[in-house]
Amino acid sequence: MARKKEKPAVEKQERVPTGVPGFDELCYGGLIRNRTYLLTGTSGAGKSIFALQYLYNGAVKYNEPGIFVATEERPKEIRQNALNFGWNLKALEDENKLAMVDACAAKIGIPSKEKYVDVRPLDIRSMMDQIITIQEKIDAKRAVVDSSTSIGFYLLRDLGKIRLELLRLSTTLEILGLTSLLTCEIIEESDISRFGVENFVTEGTIAMYYKRSENVRTRSIEIYKMRGTDHSNKIHPFEITPDGIVVHPKEEVFT
Ligand SMILES: Nc1ncnc2c1ncn2[C@@H]1O[C@H](COP(=O)(O)OP(=O)(O)OP(=O)(O)O)[C@@H](O)[C@H]1O
Ligand SMILES: [Mg+2]
Repeated sequence: MARKKEKPAVEKQERVPTGVPGFDELCYGGLIRNRTYLLTGTSGAGKSIFALQYLYNGAVKYNEPGIFVATEERPKEIRQNALNFGWNLKALEDENKLAMVDACAAKIGIPSKEKYVDVRPLDIRSMMDQIITIQEKIDAKRAVVDSSTSIGFYLLRDLGKIRLELLRLSTTLEILGLTSLLTCEIIEESDISRFGVENFVTEGTIAMYYKRSENVRTRSIEIYKMRGTDHSNKIHPFEITPDGIVVHPKEEVFT
């Protein structure tokens, strides 16, 4: 008698909504849980705002605490800027729904009064140890490293080493049960990552653009890669509004 073929048990992909209006519609409801994504863009493209909005929404709308590792901006300034969008980070920090790690002060040799300070900011392992400790403490589900371009990779001249260290970081974050965004600074709009290897060792790449056409610049966003799922392959316009980033999923930008 012919036996009925059993379907292999496939673990269902759980989605993590970013809560950024319009973005989750581009990827079936959000990022895939426990994966690490690269968020690339030139200076001023909107990476830090997107990343912060992801953590803010996580804490406020989805009850998912987050960790923000700030490598090039001081947490004090980030808190001030966030207030422009009505995001009170301090209140979330007091409730242990958000942890801001100052990975900037020690690097430039100034004191920090922050609760979490990365005293060896160029040592990627030390940063990972700190993330592990905070994750246990606040049961974080989301993480952001802003930016990943400046956490010591640039000291590693060897592309193979950069690739390995980044793979170690992204995999560690995934094993910890974190869904993460690593921002990545690019110089040329045509590049997809700074060293040309970061996008290979992360599960997905979201690219943000701030392109000039004649006398005006337009903001747009694209899901360049998202392993394990279908997603929009178009470039969509977005705005930075008084409430944060709003993506227009039904519109597209032609270049
Ligand atoms: N309250 C606001 N309302 C509207 N636009 C804003 C507001 N605050 C910042 N912006 C815009 O967002 C830009 C900064 O965005 P963001 O800090 O996210 O960029 P970034 O990609 O992280 O840049 P960098 O690589 O330099 O850190 C500003 O240059 C400005 O154009
Ligand atoms: Mg930034």
